[in-house]
Amino acid sequence: MRHRELVLLCVAAISTWLLVTYALIAQQPASLVHSQTSRNLAEQLDKLEEEVKDQSNYYRTLLSKLQALKLHREKQTKKVEDEDKTEPKQEKVYSSKLTEGEVLPVLLIACNRESAVRRSLDLLLKYRPSQERFPIIVSQDCGHRPTKQAIQSYGNQVTLIQQPDLTDIEVPLKERKFKGYFLIARHYKWALDQVFKNFRHNTVIIVEDDLDISPDFYEYFAATLPILRKDSSLWCVSAWNDNGKSNLVDVNNATLLYRTDFFPGLGWMMTKDLWEELGPKWPRSYWDDWMRMEEQRKGRACIRPELSRTRTFGKKGVSNGLFYEKYLKYIHLNTVYVPFTEKDLTYLIKDKYDPEFERMVQESQMVTINEVKSGRLPEGSNYRLVYHTKDIYKRLTKSLSLMDDLKAGVPRTGYKGVVSFFFNKRRVFLAPNNNWKGYDPSWS
Ligand code: UD1
Ligand code: MN
Repeated sequence: MRHRELVLLCVAAISTWLLVTYALIAQQPASLVHSQTSRNLAEQLDKLEEEVKDQSNYYRTLLSKLQALKLHREKQTKKVEDEDKTEPKQEKVYSSKLTEGEVLPVLLIACNRESAVRRSLDLLLKYRPSQERFPIIVSQDCGHRPTKQAIQSYGNQVTLIQQPDLTDIEVPLKERKFKGYFLIARHYKWALDQVFKNFRHNTVIIVEDDLDISPDFYEYFAATLPILRKDSSLWCVSAWNDNGKSNLVDVNNATLLYRTDFFPGLGWMMTKDLWEELGPKWPRSYWDDWMRMEEQRKGRACIRPELSRTRTFGKKGVSNGLFYEKYLKYIHLNTVYVPFTEKDLTYLIKDKYDPEFERMVQESQMVTINEVKSGRLPEGSNYRLVYHTKDIYKRLTKSLSLMDDLKAGVPRTGYKGVVSFFFNKRRVFLAPNNNWKGYDPSWS
């Protein structure tokens, strides 16, 4: 029995050991699996946390980028608004019609006025849209050194040529005091020959050394050149309105252009063909009045603006300053830039212009000088003042502060005898009576 008990005890001990071992072994893999899983989970959570952090960083960067862009846009909009308020700082972008096309040189006639030539050149250069299309040739007479140096100081922006004949001119005794006009005519002849024969240009814009120009000066000449070429009844384009005082023009109508039988000069354009006609018979003096004679004009007209594109500041010149004090210094220089090259100017061609002009004059209401001056005529209509004689013409022009002189019988700014002007906000035609037979050269 003792042996059985011992066996039993052993069996029990072994069983207990087995059980405990089993329990231990059975327990162990469960906790291992568990700890493995939890480690995986933690790792995954860490990973997820990392990813969220990454995403959040990404969105934060995106947000700051967005905010920076918004700020930049606000600044840009404000800048554009500010620029709109002030003058554009950028250089003007000119239409290709103005900068491209045949070369249209400007001839500046100079003598001995150093500061005047600077003033003229400064503006000519300020508004010039293209050096290639509008070369400036300064022709200097008089051999005045400081003036020459002033012109040279502009370097290659302009070309200086010098009238070589500085000899004295024989002038009839009674014309001695007009010697200046002989010198001017000699200079013009030489300078224009240079432009057409030496430089071989086809057209020229002539200015003098005491002229200011308007911002659309080049635009005006570039746009009217095709009309000048097309219409053989035109022989020049001028920047000048002889009755261009501010109380005699429609200052709000910068676009308006006319035809005129009176040669205005003072910033004007002609073609080579005309120079070939006039050059060989060029006069010894008073070249502008000579051009106004019928022998030269031959019924041809010039284009002129309602608002002058030039203004003279030459108080001291060859002619006396009286004219300057009375008329010239009051000329209103246009300030509005009219993009003429973008406009249809064919209305200036004779076939279109004349019927329309005649219709307007005929349809205008006949009034008296007192009615015109009263300012009581209804606005918006055109009015007509009729003159029959030279004396009446003189009386009416004086009374309205219009220029009262005539050259070769043509009144200043006149077209078909009609002087168009603006008075008390009304358009007025100072017109000859209906059986007008043409200009009378005895009227002066
Ligand atoms: C006036 C005209 C002018 C015309 C001249 C000739 C007006 C406002 N002016 O001159 O357009 O050309 O009559 O009839 O109607 N000059 C020379 N050499 C000289 C002296 C002057 O070349 O010995 C030049 C000047 O530089 C200037 C031009 O001639 O470019 C006109 O001279 P100016 O002194 O201005 O005379 P105005 O009386 O204005
Ligand atoms: Mn002058």
